[in-house]
Amino acid sequence: MATLGDSRVAGFRRRLLEPPAMSMVDSSARSRLIVALDLPDAMAAVAAAGQLAGRVGMFKIGLELFVAEGPSVVTRVRQAAPDVEIFLDLKLHDIPNTMRGAIRSARNLGAKFLTVHAGSGTAHLQACVEEAGDRLGILAVTVLTSQDDVACRQTGHTRPIEELVEMRAVCARDAGCAGVVCSGRELARVRAVAPKLCRVVPGIRPAGVDDGDQMRVMTPARAVADGASHIVVGRPILQAGDPAAAADRIVAELAGG
Ligand code: C5P
Repeated sequence: MATLGDSRVAGFRRRLLEPPAMSMVDSSARSRLIVALDLPDAMAAVAAAGQLAGRVGMFKIGLELFVAEGPSVVTRVRQAAPDVEIFLDLKLHDIPNTMRGAIRSARNLGAKFLTVHAGSGTAHLQACVEEAGDRLGILAVTVLTSQDDVACRQTGHTRPIEELVEMRAVCARDAGCAGVVCSGRELARVRAVAPKLCRVVPGIRPAGVDDGDQMRVMTPARAVADGASHIVVGRPILQAGDPAAAADRIVAELAGG
């Protein structure tokens, strides 16, 4: 299959992978931290965004918030924290025509990334990348970090998760995606087959924090040392007694402090 290796996609990808234009190590560490705003409404999201503005690199707006509030929540969060980028985690999964329509609706919202599931293969992903153009980076979700081998076998996937993640990373690479979402445990395999893609890693748990429903977890520092370009952290920050301090601790850990 032809790949989207044209200069437009390559240029966009290069910009996503370039180290941030900030001199302090701390700023670079901060830019890697994506906070999942898994909150019920815009009021809670705006409050959290205001608390975390200037401390983190990106906010992830996921299904809970987006379904409750609609696209306007993106604008409201951006207004509360203008220096923080937005990642729309809608995990789209449908036929290419429907995916294209959803991406057309999403691409002017001002988000940097949008997630789609990688399980339908390269052609589906390629349709998404084409529709997104150079305004929105498509991230392919390989295998959810809440899934383990038992869950994969239940749905007919007999290969170990690592192999499945690797195959889906190849699809993402060949389709011209900006990056993939995988767990920290598959980073080495993803780096081997798709070294130029962003590697966004959820399932992050600082030492001593409860795993919750996550099955394939890793600490912030270990994930970045193993090759994560960004880490996604939700409950360990939002459910902390002091979310700003929790975010600062993670940034310090990423910066090696
Ligand atoms: O609270 P916690 O840190 O576990 O939140 C992880 C976030 O990352 C959630 O918003 C979840 O939807 C998202 N995510 C994930 N696993 C994936 C992709 C996204 O946990 N494979």
